[in-house]
Amino acid sequence: MSLHIGAQAGEIAKRVLLPGDPLRAKHIAENFLEDAKCYNEIRGAFGYTGTYKGVPVSVQGTGMGIPSISIYVTELIREYGARKLIRVGTCGAMHENINLRDIVIAQGTTTDSSIIRNIFGPTINFAPLADYELMSKAMEVGQSLKIPTKVGNIVTVDRFYDDDIDNEKLRRYGILAVEMETAALYLLAAKYRVQSLGIFTASDHLLTKEAVPAEERQTNFNDMIKIALETIIQ
Ligand code: HPA
Repeated sequence: MSLHIGAQAGEIAKRVLLPGDPLRAKHIAENFLEDAKCYNEIRGAFGYTGTYKGVPVSVQGTGMGIPSISIYVTELIREYGARKLIRVGTCGAMHENINLRDIVIAQGTTTDSSIIRNIFGPTINFAPLADYELMSKAMEVGQSLKIPTKVGNIVTVDRFYDDDIDNEKLRRYGILAVEMETAALYLLAAKYRVQSLGIFTASDHLLTKEAVPAEERQTNFNDMIKIALETIIQ
């Protein structure tokens, strides 16, 4: 048992998918994994381990934002030996090249969070990057399943409701989308020398103000999960 995860040693796989919403962890376990067993209910952050094509895979809800995902990712790596971690989440599209429902792969992430300078101080701006092997595999899997993916820089923000952020400038510098967790995932993966990747579906668009209706979200969420599972079992 760790502080926030109630699993026994050995109950969590080396390969872990990380949805923000714990109910999505349940959805993935029930619809994509075989013999899935729930190992955690602490704080409603459901976690399951099962197999995908015979390979043990876990799926752990992380909650929203950098503080929450940092807790789960740190404990998964330090206490349970997780080595390949793929965040599967939603993002807000903020670039004209990204359409609603597109699947976005985060090659790197820019952030307004203080986590980088808390570690590196005021002069070094560490660049949190995806694991190259996982990223290129995810792109290849997307192509072979004929599911289009877009790849590039995203922004991990600390505030969902942020009237002060300069989205126009971020767009000019090629930022594709906004979400709230991946900078921490990539930073922790670098710290502990494990592999990580963030894959997202665009659930809303900051330019057009459109949003995917809740009942429709599951369909392209499932495409993203297929890409993530085929990537993580390699
Ligand atoms: N902002 C921040 N995080 C998000 C968004 C957004 O618009 N959509 C999905 N996650």
